[in-house]
Amino acid sequence: MISIRRATSADAATVHALICELAEHQDQAWGITVSVPDLRQMLARPEITYLIAERDGQPVGYVSWLERISFWSGENYLHLDDLYVAATERGHGVGEQLMRAAAEAADGKVIRWEVAEANEAAQRFYTRIGATLLSKKIGRWQPR
Ligand SMILES: CC(C)(COP(=O)(O)OP(=O)(O)OC[C@H]1O[C@@H](n2cnc3c(N)ncnc32)[C@H](O)[C@@H]1OP(=O)(O)O)[C@@H](O)C(=O)NCCC(=O)NCCS
Repeated sequence: MISIRRATSADAATVHALICELAEHQDQAWGITVSVPDLRQMLARPEITYLIAERDGQPVGYVSWLERISFWSGENYLHLDDLYVAATERGHGVGEQLMRAAAEAADGKVIRWEVAEANEAAQRFYTRIGATLLSKKIGRWQPR
């Protein structure tokens, strides 16, 4: 049985392991520089939400987001950071349960996120649950 709960600072090590799993799945393990103590602090911040899905108490996935404000509408929205379900758990509805939990927490606010052009399986998943996918380039700049 799957249960979904909000992670707290006490879950920082589990959260770190799950983020590393997703990064490895995407061949981006090199991109993980956050530490468990960093996450302990981040998870205590009110604008950050990290929901863990557990099967019989064991972590099997997560969805994470930040609450942000749109300068155009003046309204807050949820910016999803990651959605991840462990490989052995995929295709059983855990991803959809996580997105529905985010929707419930959003309480009417818009939810936005990014998905790689190459990640067609995830795009099918998002379309199936009723989301709209728009194409845009993502800017990234590391000024020196
Ligand atoms: C995308 C993801 C979160 C979906 O979670 P899930 O628990 O498998 O989703 P559900 O069981 O609710 O829905 C299954 C749907 O997801 C899609 N899907 C994506 N990858 C899948 C996989 N590896 N295995 C099974 N289904 C997959 C399928 O299109 C499936 O739709 P279908 O039943 O119409 O064929 C999950 O596959 C995942 O973690 N993928 C790797 C990380 C990732 O790509 N995250 C999204 C980044 S934007």
